[in-house]
Amino acid sequence: MENMGGLNMLDLSFYKNKRVLVTGHTGFKGTWLCRILVNAGAIVTGYSLEAITNPNLFELADISSKMNSIIGDIRDFDKLKKVFDEFQPEIVMHLAAQPIVRDSYKEPKYTYETNVIGTVNVLECVRLTSSVKSFLNVTTDKVYLNDDIPNHPFKEDEPLDGYDPYSNSKSCSELVTHSYKKSFFKDRDCSISTARAGNVIGGGDFANDRIIPDCVRAIETGKDIIVRNPHSTRPYQHVLEPLYIYLEICEKQYGNKSFEGYYNVGPDDCDCVTTGNLVDMFTISWGNNLTWVNKFDGGPHEAAFLKLDNSKIKEVFGWTPRWHINDTINKICEWTKVYLNDKKSIPLEMDREIEEFFNRK
Ligand SMILES: NC(=O)c1ccc[n+]([C@@H]2O[C@H](COP(=O)([O-])OP(=O)(O)OC[C@H]3O[C@@H](n4cnc5c(N)ncnc54)[C@H](O)[C@@H]3O)[C@@H](O)[C@H]2O)c1
Repeated sequence: MENMGGLNMLDLSFYKNKRVLVTGHTGFKGTWLCRILVNAGAIVTGYSLEAITNPNLFELADISSKMNSIIGDIRDFDKLKKVFDEFQPEIVMHLAAQPIVRDSYKEPKYTYETNVIGTVNVLECVRLTSSVKSFLNVTTDKVYLNDDIPNHPFKEDEPLDGYDPYSNSKSCSELVTHSYKKSFFKDRDCSISTARAGNVIGGGDFANDRIIPDCVRAIETGKDIIVRNPHSTRPYQHVLEPLYIYLEICEKQYGNKSFEGYYNVGPDDCDCVTTGNLVDMFTISWGNNLTWVNKFDGGPHEAAFLKLDNSKIKEVFGWTPRWHINDTINKICEWTKVYLNDKKSIPLEMDREIEEFFNRK
């Protein structure tokens, strides 16, 4: 591993004409990622299920005509392999997953099949496709064995053993990646990494059971925001923060295995807030007397406390978080105002945010 120190050196022009395969491209993070890649001149193929929410960011972002969007199930190995054979990607970013903790309690088998066998399928395709030089598996901060010890930020070498089926399936997805890396890629010109990101928020997330979408739905219906777990602490960060580091990992490790690794991607301590604090900030930034209520609904176990130690990405990539939590909340409110007033301007608003974020010196 090389210590870059100092300034972050990400140069998006690296992606110009690179063949990039993104799984989960119709999702919240995948859509933002594809928009960045398409803007950078990459040749992008996406592989995932249709977007399930209505509205959804993939449609609003208007990128399907600028990339090759393939609808398929990550559990369907033959279909996925055909895509690898035809597209011959150089970079693969694996985001497709069943990502909701509560849904994983309702559908544990589907969650494991998608998140674990799906990862095996993608890695098997990478193993069988010599064009791939850089692979990133996007997992989560929830992969760690979490005993709710207050103020304990997880480091990358701590035990992986998520509690609920979502978190645990992502721990398994990590382990699968570690085994593939050691077993098949030691002598291959292809770098393998994972990134464990904290809770991601931003404009355009319409998923159920996530706090920012709940805020936006409350605005649309004129009701109070319902907050289930106001005292849970989470490493909240703007969606562009982890995407920046995913792009950086894939770029730096392309042709340079010293950048391979398992990386936490989280905000600084000052930006790890409780969900109640987050919603307070949102209501202040939004104005219009928006209010929230505390309604714990006795749902299944979710960790009360979650923080990541982000010193490794700082040391390796010279990375620092760009938008603090207040900036992030303000951006989400700006995005939401565009969404409510003029949906056709969403692509422009996304590009404006991307430009501002990536060009910040
Ligand atoms: N949003 C967060 O706070 C967060 C935090 C940490 C990690 N992550 C991880 O980031 C990735 C993207 O999350 P997101 O927030 O964009 O979620 P999302 O639900 O918006 O997107 C998930 C994507 O995966 C695809 N998908 C789901 N099941 C599939 C299947 N069986 N076959 C093919 N495609 C399938 C969906 O079609 C969609 O494109 C996931 O791996 C998630 O675990 C998200």
